[in-house]
Amino acid sequence: MNAEGRSRLDQMPEWIALGKHREQLGEVQLRDLFAQDPERAGRYTLQVGDLHLDYSKHLVTDETLLLLRELAAAAGVAGLRDAMFRGEKINTTERRAVLHTALRAPGSAVITTDGENVVPAVHAVLTKMGTFAERVRSGDWRGHTGERIKTVVNIGIGGSDLGPAMAYEALRAYTQRDMQFRFVSNVDGADLHEALRDLDPAETLFIIASKTFTTIETITNATSARDWLLTGLGAGDEAVAKHFVALSTNAEKVSEFGIDTTNMFEFWDWVGGRYSYDSAIGLSLMIAIGQERFREMLAGFHLVDEHFRCAPPEENAPLLLGLLGIWYGNFWDAQSHAVLPYSHYLAKFTAYLQQLDMESNGKSVDRDGRPVHWQTGPVVWGTPGTNGQHAYYQLLHQGTKMIPADLIGFARPVDDLRPGLVAQHDLLMANLFAQGQALAFGKTPDEVRAEGVAEELVPHKTFKGNRPTTTILAEELSPSVLGQLIALYEHKVFVQGAVWHIDSFDQWGVELGKVLAKRVEPALTDGAEVPGLDASTANLVTKYRELRGR
Ligand code: F6P
Repeated sequence: MNAEGRSRLDQMPEWIALGKHREQLGEVQLRDLFAQDPERAGRYTLQVGDLHLDYSKHLVTDETLLLLRELAAAAGVAGLRDAMFRGEKINTTERRAVLHTALRAPGSAVITTDGENVVPAVHAVLTKMGTFAERVRSGDWRGHTGERIKTVVNIGIGGSDLGPAMAYEALRAYTQRDMQFRFVSNVDGADLHEALRDLDPAETLFIIASKTFTTIETITNATSARDWLLTGLGAGDEAVAKHFVALSTNAEKVSEFGIDTTNMFEFWDWVGGRYSYDSAIGLSLMIAIGQERFREMLAGFHLVDEHFRCAPPEENAPLLLGLLGIWYGNFWDAQSHAVLPYSHYLAKFTAYLQQLDMESNGKSVDRDGRPVHWQTGPVVWGTPGTNGQHAYYQLLHQGTKMIPADLIGFARPVDDLRPGLVAQHDLLMANLFAQGQALAFGKTPDEVRAEGVAEELVPHKTFKGNRPTTTILAEELSPSVLGQLIALYEHKVFVQGAVWHIDSFDQWGVELGKVLAKRVEPALTDGAEVPGLDASTANLVTKYRELRGR
């Protein structure tokens, strides 16, 4: 038993039962599972809001699903979920509440942490964002020289970049097309250079997005952007107010940087960076799509929040997806999980999920600080499916690794496609359905032979199949559907962290690199002695200086 009265996960009877069940299933075949149960495809689907989920192509039986739900119950997933929604400090290592769900709660909700109902403040910021967004969109907000803002540049990194950048791409069809939006994250000067090279400072608005306002990459880029602006305008600091706004929890640092805190949009320490794009961090997105659409997206998030909070375990989609991941990661030795959207607009979706999932569940000690004895978060990867088909799908189909995958698609293309391009949509979706089918059912040697293939090529043209996928289908990629999708994955990640008994809301693992970079930088710049530098790194630093002619 540990401090929370929980036995070690891998010693729980429910875990052991799953292990035995896995042994019994042996080389279970999807072909057989479908043949044995003609109702399987219908029974193994869920509808959550606009999302239709087909999980029939998984290596599971009714018994597997029951045992997985029993594991979740024994691991206390529902209790931790309720504690999260109640505003308890479930991020124990940082002693923080985890309340991203409050960011999309209706104004009438009461969600309390530290004795304060946070909902009024959330809605006050949303209103402030809405007013500002409409002023920029309408041209009422002008730059220092009186020009209309034509380009918005969001400078942030990690959760202060990936969310708005992903959602902006996803909802391109809903954006104000006479404006441009750019996202700069990398401290590599090339990122800012390419973003700014064709812009007119007089028409450019910078949004500096940083929860802490201390992140070196963001502050460095923001400082360079300010220099670019003031040089370009030939103006002094008085020009900053019309061209820089900040999204942060840290008013002091914002003001130190020189941004007037009246131009700051606030959020709170109970919003994790990777859970923040529906907070003030989404300002660039709100300017792009307008406040109405942004609120539709929040409603989509909220719909899935309520589903996760209230739906019974058998119908609870985030619970199911989380448990399926545990099934493969812990009982089938799967190391990674592919997310393959059949939508060009979701090009950045998987990159966003990488932070959500891997920064949350890439942990090897449990909530009590003890080493875990089971696999935790998977490597999450993927790109839009059709492009992936001509790159890495070979390995998915015929490689030696088991890689469960999510296939995501939409019935309708966006409204403003030309008719000729609309016609391409069936082909796009035919690919999604074909891949799910091929991954699951493959092609037997006999089927290959029946096509007249020469015997020596039969092994090469055989597909074992049995590769599990979830298919997620919705009518269209609207703001609400995007919110639903993101909330689905957020809660899936939560479920897995809860079962693995890890803190999904801290990220101590990114700290060491940051500290070391600060220590090494003077060695690169001035050749300063850095105490404690290992021999390999010291050699690399010398080589670097040599190559730079220093
Ligand atoms: O990479 C670590 C991290 O702390 C992320 O969790 C966060 O999203 C990112 O850095 C950016 O942090 P900030 O918003 O404080 O600049």
